[in-house]
Amino acid sequence: MEIVYKTKSEIETMSLGEQLARSLCSGATLLLTGDLGAGKTTLVRGIARGLHIKDVVQSPTFNIMKIYFKGDRPLIHIDAYRLADINNDIGLDEYIGYESGITVIEWPMFIKDLLPQDAIEVNITNDGDDNRTLKFSGENLNFLKEVTL
Ligand SMILES: Nc1ncnc2c1ncn2[C@@H]1O[C@H](COP(=O)(O)OP(=O)(O)OP(=O)(O)O)[C@@H](O)[C@H]1O
Ligand SMILES: [Mg+2]
Repeated sequence: MEIVYKTKSEIETMSLGEQLARSLCSGATLLLTGDLGAGKTTLVRGIARGLHIKDVVQSPTFNIMKIYFKGDRPLIHIDAYRLADINNDIGLDEYIGYESGITVIEWPMFIKDLLPQDAIEVNITNDGDDNRTLKFSGENLNFLKEVTL
């Protein structure tokens, strides 16, 4: 199953994220792929806002992982970019898919062995200027029924 959204601004991508925060099941994992600057972290910021997390969400490239507990549900944000080619057995698997939370992973290809089978893939492409295409794929995308732009 595949569903595509096109956004025309950072604000629209955030709004998509906000709606995702409300419609995703707890325990869900989103795998965000796309080039540098595609908008992965922007989508995560929207999700954080939708969960009423007030902390500033930064790209965790230099932290690998950050967990936000002060919202409606926990948000686990992982950026695996710097885990390429190094031993990544640092216990991330214990957090990914955390039952009551939502997990989002940027650069998931670097931790392939740790990804849950039922993860939802979101590929973001830069179509020039502020235009982005967000392609969702996964077994069950029914939760997207309520998500509109
Ligand atoms: N429609 C849009 N959706 C999202 N971001 C947009 C859009 N239009 C422009 N932008 C800009 O693109 C940039 C996206 O940056 P962001 O940090 O979200 O990318 P990223 O995919 O996380 O990159 P990285 O791989 O470096 O972590 C921001 O500067 C944002 O303002
Ligand atoms: Mg990022």
